[in-house]
Amino acid sequence: MTPALPPLSLGVDLTSTRPGTPGGTFMRRFWLAIARGEDLMRGEAKPIRIMSEDYVLYRGISGQPRLIAQRCPHRGAPLHLGWVEGEHIRCVYHGWKFDGAGECVEQPAEDPGFCRKVQIATRPVREHMGLVFAYLGEGDPPEFPPYPAPPQEGLIEAWPVERVPCNYLQCFENTMDEVHVAFVHAPGGSHRAMSDLPLISAEETGWGMIRYGKRKSGKVRVTLHYAPAVTRVIVPPLTGMEGVGGWTEIYFNFTPVDDENHLWLITHHVKVTGESATAYRRKRVEYLERRAMAPPALDVALDLMAGKGRFADVLGHPDLAIVQDIAVQAGQGRIQDRSREHLGRSDAGIIAWRRILARELSSIAAGRSGKAWRRPPPDALPELGI
Ligand code: FES
Ligand SMILES: [Fe+2]
Repeated sequence: MTPALPPLSLGVDLTSTRPGTPGGTFMRRFWLAIARGEDLMRGEAKPIRIMSEDYVLYRGISGQPRLIAQRCPHRGAPLHLGWVEGEHIRCVYHGWKFDGAGECVEQPAEDPGFCRKVQIATRPVREHMGLVFAYLGEGDPPEFPPYPAPPQEGLIEAWPVERVPCNYLQCFENTMDEVHVAFVHAPGGSHRAMSDLPLISAEETGWGMIRYGKRKSGKVRVTLHYAPAVTRVIVPPLTGMEGVGGWTEIYFNFTPVDDENHLWLITHHVKVTGESATAYRRKRVEYLERRAMAPPALDVALDLMAGKGRFADVLGHPDLAIVQDIAVQAGQGRIQDRSREHLGRSDAGIIAWRRILARELSSIAAGRSGKAWRRPPPDALPELGI
């Protein structure tokens, strides 16, 4: 049963996910997206920082991704500098080698038998809908995948990853703030169909929160917010992708790098098959080419935040909506000072999630177990509702 909600309280730190904090403990109870699958080649190893902890993510020759502690247990060299050998990784400093389970299996300059005493920490890693997920908590992970793939046919594609310079909660909350669309995305007109102001309401579910945006027409847009920080919503095509594929269903994963930075790991489902899928792919290649030629969305957003230009100056950017979103959300500051806000009726979704989060983090802080979250069922679906 879902516990009762407390009044909106800022008595608990909602934003930190460092190890040992209530937020860090809460987030570590879920599978979290940590990378885009196609950004990690077989045989490649990369450093990765998630919730203020450092790891090395590598992909073995079989294609299986693996996540291990960042530093070699010998003398602390960063393991991403080494070599992936089959499913193993070898440290570049003195050649110690670790298998996929973290056991040391070779120490070229040591006595036989020493390596049996050495291990490196590993974490469970799986892939779903083009993203790499890890479980960073204690004990056994929850069921995988953390949320269902869409039931309809179509293309599933993960977007290039953005690293956004602010706390994850700001951007997760923004997805509960449907009113922003009519203002932030007005320049350029990418969300013109959503320009009337919805009446927002939200309710807690066993897996997170369902949010409604009721329009003047009576239609209701339905958005799903999966605990701890995923939003599933139907959105307009990116700039330049109009006319093919229609509106897409996106799964927006907000994963903290540390308390002041986070990743946008987005995967989407485009309901196209056959010839329309081919047309979509062609247009997508053109979009990615334009994107490669343009300044990165983050750089443009940082310029706008610094007063160098306005939205009207960057309307041709292929990731205009992303530029606009980063500028306002990271523009709130690295960690938005929520004690200074004046929340109103349109913030009903944000208020609802903060109460849920505050209840869970207070529970953890008091040593209680908190809610037993369920995995979202496949028949809970977002609706376009415009
Ligand atoms: S530090 Fe890695 S083998 Fe020595
Ligand atoms: Fe937005």
